[in-house]
Amino acid sequence: MGRLEGMAAVVTGGASGFGKGIVEAFVREGAAAMIADIDEAKAQSLAETLRADGARAAAVRVDVLDRASLEAAVEACEAQFGALDIMVANAGIGQRPAAFLDTSTDVLRQHFEVNAIGAVNSCQTAIPALRRRAEGASILITVSGIALLPRPQLYGYGMAKAAALYLMKSLAQELAPERIRVNGLFPAIGDTPMLAEFAGGTRSEADERRFAEGLPLGRLITPADVGQAAVFLSSPAEAGAMTGCALPVDAGRCL
Ligand SMILES: NC(=O)c1ccc[n+]([C@@H]2O[C@H](COP(=O)([O-])OP(=O)(O)OC[C@H]3O[C@@H](n4cnc5c(N)ncnc54)[C@H](O)[C@@H]3O)[C@@H](O)[C@H]2O)c1
Repeated sequence: MGRLEGMAAVVTGGASGFGKGIVEAFVREGAAAMIADIDEAKAQSLAETLRADGARAAAVRVDVLDRASLEAAVEACEAQFGALDIMVANAGIGQRPAAFLDTSTDVLRQHFEVNAIGAVNSCQTAIPALRRRAEGASILITVSGIALLPRPQLYGYGMAKAAALYLMKSLAQELAPERIRVNGLFPAIGDTPMLAEFAGGTRSEADERRFAEGLPLGRLITPADVGQAAVFLSSPAEAGAMTGCALPVDAGRCL
């Protein structure tokens, strides 16, 4: 029996990186996954691979800035899998480092749009469906360790993630009386395609080593690391008493 047996999730940004790790961990633990990504081809290809392995998975094109596409994803999840138990607001974009005086307000707006308002849209469209569940429903937001411990030169990304932290805590308070839990994952630098952005646009082995050596455990965060943490926080049996939890998955970065 899987740890999420019989549950169903929408995972935004589920076609790549940490979102893909979450989808793979969820289906391994018995959940159905609706992969909701702006990259529809990648999302469909992952869903096909998972279905070929016997998992319950489907894909839908979602832009987290387009609420109608999110509503369609929630409806598709309920129609195909019978319910929505878990919304994972994971989609995001990375940023190339830039000094404060070189940071345009356009960059700040873009990051607030995707990394903060995108999470707001994902949560708001999911809540009516989560309310239809008698128990066990939850929201999980992929935030970032940067919201707990700022880094220099990532103003757009970091300020938007700080807003996502606020959203997670505040929404956890509002939804607690309804027994809907809201938690956040706070990864450090990950072995995902986004690493190239943080490295300045391209990714080299030297960058990977430099980032890994900057973390106390001396290793990057993998999609599997994030997937395992997501399963734990989404399991009512294991984390039923946890809401508003900011869980670092960061190889010790925020110590
Ligand atoms: N990689 C890191 O170092 C790191 C660290 C901390 C937090 N995070 C966060 O983890 C999450 C996943 O990042 P990742 O590293 O897996 O990156 P990634 O680039 O591998 O995956 C991001 C996914 O989001 C999708 N996406 C982007 N914009 C979208 C939109 N508007 N609507 C729907 N889907 C969209 C992309 O198509 C992609 O599949 C993000 O929220 C990111 O900020 C990443």
